[in-house]
Formats: sequence, C-alpha cells, structure tokens
Amino acid sequence: MRNKITIIGAGNVGATAAHWAASRGLGDVLLLDVVEGVPQGKALDLLQAGPVDGFSGRVTGSNDFADSAGSDVVIITAGLARKPGMSRDDLLAKNVAIVKSCAEQAAKSSPECVLIVVTNPIDAMVYTAFKVSGFPKNRVVGMAGVLDSARYRTFLAEALGVAPRDVNAMVMGIHGDNMIPLIRLANVSGVPVTDLLSEEDLNAIVSRTQHGGAEIVNHLKTGSAFYTPGLAAVEMAQAILTDSKRVLPCAAYVEGEFGFSGCFLGVPVVLGAGGIEKILEFKLTDEEKAALAESEAAVHKQMEATGL
Ligand code: 2OP
Repeated sequence: MRNKITIIGAGNVGATAAHWAASRGLGDVLLLDVVEGVPQGKALDLLQAGPVDGFSGRVTGSNDFADSAGSDVVIITAGLARKPGMSRDDLLAKNVAIVKSCAEQAAKSSPECVLIVVTNPIDAMVYTAFKVSGFPKNRVVGMAGVLDSARYRTFLAEALGVAPRDVNAMVMGIHGDNMIPLIRLANVSGVPVTDLLSEEDLNAIVSRTQHGGAEIVNHLKTGSAFYTPGLAAVEMAQAILTDSKRVLPCAAYVEGEFGFSGCFLGVPVVLGAGGIEKILEFKLTDEEKAALAESEAAVHKQMEATGL
C-alpha cells in the first residue's frame, strides 16, 4: 500500500511541497485547503505531470478533512505569509488560530500520523500543533533547520566554488534572526570551512543566512520563499516515510537536551518511522550555548504569545 501524505494549505509552500512529494514518489498526495477549487485545480495539474515526470502516486485536492483520513504524514503549511517589513512574529496571532484548527482536525482524521509544521512563526506554530493535537513529542516536528541550513550551505558553496551538496553545515535554534549557523562544525567533505574562508567572509555568510528569508520577501514583495521551504518539508517527510534515520536539523521538543526544556528548538535529530527518534546532543562551546539561550528566550516569548 502506498504512503499517504496530506499537505494542508494549497498556497505557494503547500503546492510546491506537493510537487516535490509527488515527483519524489513519496506516495499518494492530498492537497487540502479551505478555498474551493484551488486544491482541486492544483492537484489535477500536478497529477497530469505524472506521465512526463514518471511518478505513479495519486494527487488529489479537497476542502474536506475527511479525505485526509489515515495519512502517514501531515504537513501544515496553511497560514499567512510575510510581506516586506513584517517579521515572522507579526504573523503569530492570525496563524495560531489557523494552525490550531488544522492540527486539531489532522489529529482526529489521522491519529497515527507525524505532523510536520511549516507555518510561521514555526517555533510557536509547532508548539501550538503539539499542544492541540495531544500527540507525543516525537510525532510533532517543525521545519526550519533544513531550510536555513540549505541557505547556509548554498552561500558557503558559492563562496568556495564547490558543489553545494558537499557542504555540510547546520543551523540550530530559532527560525528567526537569532538562528545559529554554526561555523565551527561547517565543512566541505570533511575540510573545515574555517581553513578555507576568512572570518570576515564567514561572518557575512552567517548574517546573510540569518536574514535569508527576508532577502527573498524583499525581492518578491507579495510573499515569502516557497521552493526550498516546500522541499525541506518533503525531505523530512521522506526520511519518516522511508524510515531512513536521516540526521536533519529540525524544531524538536526539548526536555533537558542542550540544557533547555519545555519548548521547540532547532536541533539535530534522527528522523525515522517514529518521527523524531532521537535528538543528537553534542557539546557546545560557551559562545554557542549563549547563542542557543538567546534563541530559547525568543521561542519562549513566542510561545507565551500563543496563549496556550
Ligand atoms: C523563510 O525563511 C518562509 O520563513 C520562511 O523563507
């Protein structure tokens, strides 16, 4: 039997995630949205790519949560996106109501699924989904680290003139200005980037990564990034559906790891059939620990604003 993936929200991020999921052959994809016709139209268009792209999964669109019943993975992308001048936090009040309703309904229709939350501000929205779904912490995960790390790896690869896939680099912490692109551990096929780039160049890349989302919002003017956010969510879904034990930076509920508890923080996790199977805790420098504490404080502020 094929896996079933429901993507809630048929906007740019949701539709792009559906595209990557179908093209990678992850299973049957359901695109769900409250707007009549949009998920149906986009799904039909995507389905018709099957003969050319070579995938066999079904792609359907719906306005009815009942159609998502029995999903293995549910990706929540529904909500408003940023416009120029807006921070991710500006979206909080509107999106918390949307994510609450989506997570409640998803938990009812697919009680065994893993929930992947993409809606911004991600760290507060994944907490919202965790609270209202009643799911165990391993089955609720936020997408952010894969996206932020992809940006970081891209900028490093550009500066080094190397293949992006050979750059291993991780962003931890919040999905916001306090995110932590780790310099110490970044490497190109094992060679430390600190031996290849100047401190000045590395600091510029770190800063560009931290503001990577806003850079795109400022270009687009009417919305935010969607190709890589959609792919990042699908990369996580694939690791879960194939039980591949990929190690990816994700927003996970911490209970003592890295010295923090009771919130979602971007940390390296092992993703498999059980969702988050393990958090890979490692020794941080004092400076990194202090940066993570700043991230954690910002996440807690967001969590309070959800009223949950
Ligand atoms: C970004 O960083 C949408 O927050 C997302 O582009």
